[in-house]
Amino acid sequence: MEEKRKIIMDVDTGSDDAIALVMAMLDPSFELLGVMAVSGNLEVKLTTDNSIRVVECCGMQDKVKVYRGCDYPLASTLTPHLPQTDLLPIREGHNPYSFHPDRLPLPDPITKAGDRNAVSWLVDTLMVAEDGEITLIPVGPLTNIAAAMRIEDRIIPKIREIVLMGGSHIGGNESAAGEFNIWADPEAAEIVLQSGCKITMVPLDATEVAISTHEDAEKMRALDTPPARLCADMIDHRIADSDGDTTAINDALAVCAVLHPEVLKNVIHTTVHVDISRGFGYGATIVDLRSPGWRKEAPNCYFAMGADREYFFNYMYRVLKEDKERRAQ
Ligand code: BDR
Ligand code: CA
Repeated sequence: MEEKRKIIMDVDTGSDDAIALVMAMLDPSFELLGVMAVSGNLEVKLTTDNSIRVVECCGMQDKVKVYRGCDYPLASTLTPHLPQTDLLPIREGHNPYSFHPDRLPLPDPITKAGDRNAVSWLVDTLMVAEDGEITLIPVGPLTNIAAAMRIEDRIIPKIREIVLMGGSHIGGNESAAGEFNIWADPEAAEIVLQSGCKITMVPLDATEVAISTHEDAEKMRALDTPPARLCADMIDHRIADSDGDTTAINDALAVCAVLHPEVLKNVIHTTVHVDISRGFGYGATIVDLRSPGWRKEAPNCYFAMGADREYFFNYMYRVLKEDKERRAQ
């Protein structure tokens, strides 16, 4: 049997983070070593609580621990500037993102978060790992991972690769140019991009073509297991909150892409930076699309310009269906 892929999730749960976590826990090809929570869609107290809810919904509380991470972005809130002024850090009761309920519609947790901070847990976990042993899947702002890299750069060779949801080439969703995860902590994202790790970015360009519908949700709901019902509810919730009849399950696409990179289309290997200059483009990803001869720097990122919607849905459905079959055994 092929060895399981050792992964660590970093989440700001979050409606689409919830589905990503379900996939990371239920896909038997993964060994999920732990979940780190970070401020982003909600303050970290809530993203930690929501992540524990999802772990318990999957019945994984004896195997998977959630660690509470950073409450504030590294630098962006230190001085007043254009885009973030009012929004970060997001405080309970002031949640501008109805996409992401303060508390996911799941029972109150019966277990607690790990008793250490996510950043020190990550450093210690990586320091005892073999080189190239662990894959990181961040689907929120990159604060925890950047902080860990700054505390101890000997963790970097231990990371097999980073497959992250974030960025955009076509324009932003949080500002005209910035995708939320990158915009929410631009300096952290730039630290990670400059780390030398193998990085795959799953940006809006990919997630917004791999969309889900109410019909997809119904198919999942018919499986009638707690995780399948949660995924269906999150899809319906996101569609209800949008101005269309589809939704991008951004974060779960990054999980799928770890073992099935073929779900991503038109992946270019190029140089990507984050605009940290605090102007109108603060938090935008700058993707070098010039032909290689014109680029000044070595590529640091695999950047996906598209994705296969059907492949992605079939993956999510298969993971949920096989979980149901295992429950019946
Ligand atoms: C990203 O931002 C968050 O709101 C989602 O959870 C996702 O990680 C999409 O831009
Ligand atoms: Ca997220």
